[in-house]
Amino acid sequence: MITIKNKAAISKMTVAGKLLSEILTDLKNVEMLGKSSADLDRIIELELKKRNLVSRTKGYMTYRHSSCISVNDEVVHGVPSEKRTFQNGDLVKVDVCASWNGYCADMARCFVVGQGERLAQIEKLVSVAEQALFAGASMAKAGGRLSDISAAVQQKVEAAGYGVVRDFAGHGIGKSMHEEPEVLNYGKAGQGPYLQAGMTIAIEPMITEGDYHVYVDKDGWTVKTVDQSWAAHVEDTILITNNGPVFLTRQ
Ligand code: MF3
Ligand code: CO
Repeated sequence: MITIKNKAAISKMTVAGKLLSEILTDLKNVEMLGKSSADLDRIIELELKKRNLVSRTKGYMTYRHSSCISVNDEVVHGVPSEKRTFQNGDLVKVDVCASWNGYCADMARCFVVGQGERLAQIEKLVSVAEQALFAGASMAKAGGRLSDISAAVQQKVEAAGYGVVRDFAGHGIGKSMHEEPEVLNYGKAGQGPYLQAGMTIAIEPMITEGDYHVYVDKDGWTVKTVDQSWAAHVEDTILITNNGPVFLTRQ
């Protein structure tokens, strides 16, 4: 069942989104070079606590961390580790889901460490992931169909010559991190449930420089590309209204 959020739920999700976006936006001021993904996770954990945000990944199944940090050919669900130290030119994807007074926001952003030889290429990959998210979100309006979002994301990614990951998807969000519906990043427009004002969804394109096939690493979490091409991932939590999308994680 897709839940329609009332005013109270929407105002809590709005606060969750605003506080979470402060954290991820401020990460661009953090010197990544030489830090480990575990260091970055500790910074995020501290910032969540300061704002009374509760991590929803920590304690989710076997997951024990406040963020997912995925580097280069890791697409999503990278597990923070003391051993993973950021190098010049790395593409670091940070994904955090947290709740405020019981209501969640979910958000991911990309960061490039320093300046690698491939900086321009990587920035283009990240930019297309963002454009795909915006293209999908522009279809998130009452009266539209769920797969209008999916088709718009896929079109943007493939027009730029990149791959769109099929095995993971965006999702409804609210009291739980993952609610119905599943928001695919590919598909034909005009299908699936009708979108209604008060639905809240996380749109999160995962895109690859090469082939879109992925696998889960032996740690049981980290999703990597089969061909070792690099991937970008961006995510926003969005409220659907009669006048289009409201980005709860871009306030
Ligand atoms: N925040 C992630 C999402 O976008 C959830 C990852 S599940 C985890 O849906 F347990 F790996 F964190
Ligand atoms: Co998500």
